[in-house]
This record gives sequence, structure tokens and C-alpha cells, in this order.
Amino acid sequence: MRREGAVSRLVRATREGRLLQVIGNRIKRRPVANHVRWHGAADQGDAVQALTTWGREMVRDKPGTILLVGSDDGVRRLVMRELSKSGVALAVLSEDELAHYDADTPVAGVLCTAVDVLGQARIAGLINAHPQLAFLRFEYVYGLDPAQRRFAQWDEYAETFFVSPVLLQDPNPYSIYAESLHHFEQKCGLRDFLDLFQMLTELVRREVPGDIAEFGSYKGHSGWLIARSLQALGSDKQLWMFDMFEAFPDEQWGVDQFWSSTHAVDFGDVRDKLAAFPNVRLVKGDFTQTLRDSAVQSLALAYIDCDSYRATRYLLDTLPDDYIEPGGLMICEDYGHPALLGNRVAVHEVMDGRKDFARQFSQFSGLYMFTKLTKGTA
Ligand SMILES: C[S@@+](CC[C@H](N)C(=O)[O-])C[C@H]1O[C@@H](n2cnc3c(N)ncnc32)[C@H](O)[C@@H]1O
Repeated sequence: MRREGAVSRLVRATREGRLLQVIGNRIKRRPVANHVRWHGAADQGDAVQALTTWGREMVRDKPGTILLVGSDDGVRRLVMRELSKSGVALAVLSEDELAHYDADTPVAGVLCTAVDVLGQARIAGLINAHPQLAFLRFEYVYGLDPAQRRFAQWDEYAETFFVSPVLLQDPNPYSIYAESLHHFEQKCGLRDFLDLFQMLTELVRREVPGDIAEFGSYKGHSGWLIARSLQALGSDKQLWMFDMFEAFPDEQWGVDQFWSSTHAVDFGDVRDKLAAFPNVRLVKGDFTQTLRDSAVQSLALAYIDCDSYRATRYLLDTLPDDYIEPGGLMICEDYGHPALLGNRVAVHEVMDGRKDFARQFSQFSGLYMFTKLTKGTA
């Protein structure tokens, strides 16, 4: 397939209502791959550049063949062309071939060339289940799923605000959120907080027993918001905040590797900012090792915001049966974030088989919420 020209890309972006995004990307992005990682690809050109950059990094770090998996809507051929110019060894595999792949020569990593969300999740699942490939670097690009484009085109409420119950609520979450920004740079988004605040209100109103735990606290913004909300709601629930409070652990799974050692944190600073709340406990370290030894007995709410497949998978394997109270909640903050494919894979691997949790995805915030059903309703 011929590479799409600049003019035709702009025409297509105009038709799809993405012109400003494309122009913004052209001006802002540098380097492209980094921009695409966090903001998605605006067009096929972005996708090809990002995948090519990551492919070159893969062979630099670990010489070997790059596996290309996923349908070819043009991206694959262009990536192949670019990487071949640098003499990179490539092998194209179907999903079936991937599942049965026997790596008898060194493999540098896996590039997913499918642009649809479903295909990407399927391929990531196959990689995670593959004994030789699971821990190789895995890269994909989001933002080009045709279904999402269609959705955006038809969303008649895209520019509309709904009347929300939080507008009628006392205490008012907007003032709590504004207060938080005197102490923290914005990390927990307002939409996340508005959904989270409703869930906290509901747990307090229903008197669900158990503590609250946050898994992934970073500099403490969302933890502070939870603590302040509990205080405003008159609840004396204990809040546990679990984090390395240092930087991300070294991640070995291919879908997670890009997190390793990012998110540097000053632990003393977080401790100082949370010191005003006597019901808050910070637990420092990898929670896949610290949770069992902590004094947490049961949870009304687990707020899961740890980004990686490994950590999410551990929590979803552990919390539902051993910690969450009937009527209690697990909230997966990361699910809706397009860059966090590992989280989505873990959610489906574990939760799809469970009938004892009701689930609701918020199209407003991107949070995926799981409520443990009480006896008689399961
Ligand atoms: C996106 S940040 C959390 C942001 C925070 N909830 C907020 O909104 O203010 C993700 C955090 O998860 C932590 N994390 C990820 N995996 C972890 C693990 N296995 N053990 C402890 N902390 C982990 C990282 O160190 C990082 O600080």
C-alpha cells in the first residue's frame, strides 16, 4: 500500500473531526514515539514512526528477530519497509502461528501492527500466555481503531454536560478537588474523582464494612482526595496507601517493561502531605509482597491505579476472595486509558469468569467498577 500523503491525511482528519489534533501533534510531538505512547497516534504516519522507533530500540537492547503480529491495514507493510532499511530481521506471524511459536533463534521483541483494540488485546493475551515471549518487550499503538472513530462521529452528546447527582451533593466534591490542587500537581483527573466520590459516598451510605486501600499512590493526589472525602463524609474508615513510594518496580512482562523505574517520588513529601489524616497508613514497597503482611483484614473499596499487568493481575487474583467485603467495590482506574493494555488484559483474564461481581464501566471517567454481590444476588 502507498503511504498516505500529507494533504490527503489532512483532508481525512478534517472529515473525521481530528484536524486540530493532527496539527497539534505535528507542532508538539518530539520525539514522536514518546508522544504517541501517551497521546495515541493521530494517523497512520504516527503509528508507523512510533512502531519503527520502538523496533529499533528493541534490537539495540536485545539483538534478534522482531516478530510482527496483527492484521495488515498498511501499518505492517510500512513498518517492515522502514525497519528493513536498517537491516533488522523481521518475521511476520499470524495469531495462530504466534500461539505455537517456538523461538529457536533470539527474538528482540514483538510489534503489534493491529490497530483495533480487540485485536491488540487478543495478541497481548497470547503473548502473556507464551512461555518464551511473555517477557519480551511488546509494543502497540492506539488511537486508530475504526470503531472508536465511528463512535466519535456519532456521539451526539460529545459537547454536552449532564446534570450529575454530585452537583446536588453536600459535601461538594468540586470544592474538595479545588482544595487538593493547593497541595498537589494534578494527577488524579476530575472525572476520576467525581466517579470515585460517588462510590465513596455510596459505601459510607450503605455502611459497607472494611477499610479502603489504594494500590498505586504515586505522589499522593488521589489518596489525599479519598482521605479528605472520607473526612468530609464523616467516615472514620481507615485508608491504606500502597506504593513503592520511590519509582516503579522493574517490570519483566513485555507489556509492562516501559514502566520500569518511571514515576520517581519523594516519600517524605507524600508522608508530610498526608500527615493531617490520622486514618491514613502508607505502606512502602512492592504490594505484591507487602499486602499479605500488612494489617489489612478486609476492604470496602480497593482503588487500583498501578498501571501494570503484573500488579493488576496480582490484585485481581488476590482481592476478590480474600479481602473485598460483600457489597464492596474494586475500581480499576487504568482500564480506560488506551496506553494501559496490560491492565485491560488482566481485568478480562480474571474478571470475565466471575459471576459474583457486578460491573460497570464509566464512559465518563474510564474507571471500571466491580461490585461484589451480596448473598442471594449472586
Ligand atoms: C499512576 S501512578 C498512581 C497515581 C495516583 N493514584 C494518583 O492518581 O495520584 C501508579 C503508581 O503505582 C505504583 N506501583 C505500580 N506497581 C506497583 C507495585 N507492584 N507495588 C507498589 N507500587 C506499585 C507506581 O510506583 C506508581 O507510583
